[in-house]
Amino acid sequence: MLRTGGLVAFPTETVYGVGANALDARAAARIFEAKQRPSFDPLITHLADVADLEVLVGPVSSAVAALATRFWPGPLTLIVDRPEGIPPIVTSGLDSMAVRVPDHEDARRLIAAAGVPVAAPSANRFGQLSPTRAEHVVRGLGAAVEMVLDGGPTRCGIESTIVDARGDHPVVLRLGALPVEELEKVTGPVAVRPGSSGQPVAPGTLAAHYAPRTPLRLVSGAEPAGIGGAECGYLAFRDRPAGDWAAVEVLSASGDLTEAAARLFDVLHRLDAAGVTGIVAEPVPDTGVGRAVNDRLRRAAATWHPAS
Ligand code: TXA
Ligand code: MG
Repeated sequence: MLRTGGLVAFPTETVYGVGANALDARAAARIFEAKQRPSFDPLITHLADVADLEVLVGPVSSAVAALATRFWPGPLTLIVDRPEGIPPIVTSGLDSMAVRVPDHEDARRLIAAAGVPVAAPSANRFGQLSPTRAEHVVRGLGAAVEMVLDGGPTRCGIESTIVDARGDHPVVLRLGALPVEELEKVTGPVAVRPGSSGQPVAPGTLAAHYAPRTPLRLVSGAEPAGIGGAECGYLAFRDRPAGDWAAVEVLSASGDLTEAAARLFDVLHRLDAAGVTGIVAEPVPDTGVGRAVNDRLRRAAATWHPAS
C-alpha cells in the first residue's frame, strides 16, 4: 500500500501516525489533504533502523549521531539537513528534515517491509487531539486513509520530543515523551524553545493545538471552585476533585507522570465525547514528561473563550 502511494495509519510508541512513502511527493501531498493540514507544517520522516539515518542523509553532526545512538529507537525526533531524495513537500520547503526511528515493532516492521522512509504526522485532523488508539484514527480520519493497523493503545501517549542538535547548542523545538532531563545527560544543558504561533518553527508548537472540540480551561490547584460544575468535565492529575461534575477523569491515582502522559489524549477523547459543556483541567507537576503534558494542556486551553 505504501509503495503504491497509499496512506497507512500505524501505531508508534508515542501516538498513531498516518504514513506515506516519503520519497513520493504525491503520496505526501495526500497526507496534507487527509489531515487538512496547512502545507507550511512539515512532516517527520520515519526510519526502520538507526543505521538507515546515514544511508538516507549522509554524515550527521556528532551531537545528532550521539542522540540517535542513545535514544533510537525511541520518542526523539532529530532535525537534519534534507537529503536530495526527499521531495520538498515533505519538509514544507525547508532545507531541514525531521526524522526518527519509532520504538514499536509494528511500525518498524511496516517501514522495513515498505523498503522506503515513511513520512508520518500524527493521525488526526490538524489541530485536534492526537490519536493513541486505532479507534481514534478511524473516528478522526475515517475514509481518508486506506488502512489502519491496530496495535492497541500506545505506550507513551504523547508525541516525540523534537531536538535540533545540528549546531553547537542543542534546542528542544517541541517538548515530548523523552524528558529534557534525559536529553541533557547526553548533550549537557539544552534550551527549550516554546515556539510561537507567529513563527511556527514546529507547528506542533502553535498556541492552539492538540485541542478537544469542547472548550478546555486550565486551572491552578486552588481555583476550580466556582467555575465549571455540574455540566462540566474535570481532568485531575491524581486526586478526585470536590464538588459536582458531569464527568471526572484522573490521569494517575498513584501520581505517576509516565502513566499520566500515556493516558492524557485517551482521557481527553473521552471527556470530549461525554457531552459536557466545558472541561476543567489541572496541570501536573512540571518535571520530566510532566512538562510535555502541561505543554499539551496549555495549547488545548488556548481555545477557551468564556461565554460570559
Ligand atoms: O511522536 C511523534 O512525533 C508522532 C509519531 C507519529 O511519530 N508524529 C508527530 O508528527 O507528532 P506531527 O506531524 O503531528 O508533528 C510533527 C512536528 C510538527 O510540529 C512539525 O512542525 C515539526 O514536527 N517538524 C517537522 N519537520 C520539521 C523541521 N524540519 N524543522 C522543525 N520542525 C519540524
Ligand atoms: Mg500532530
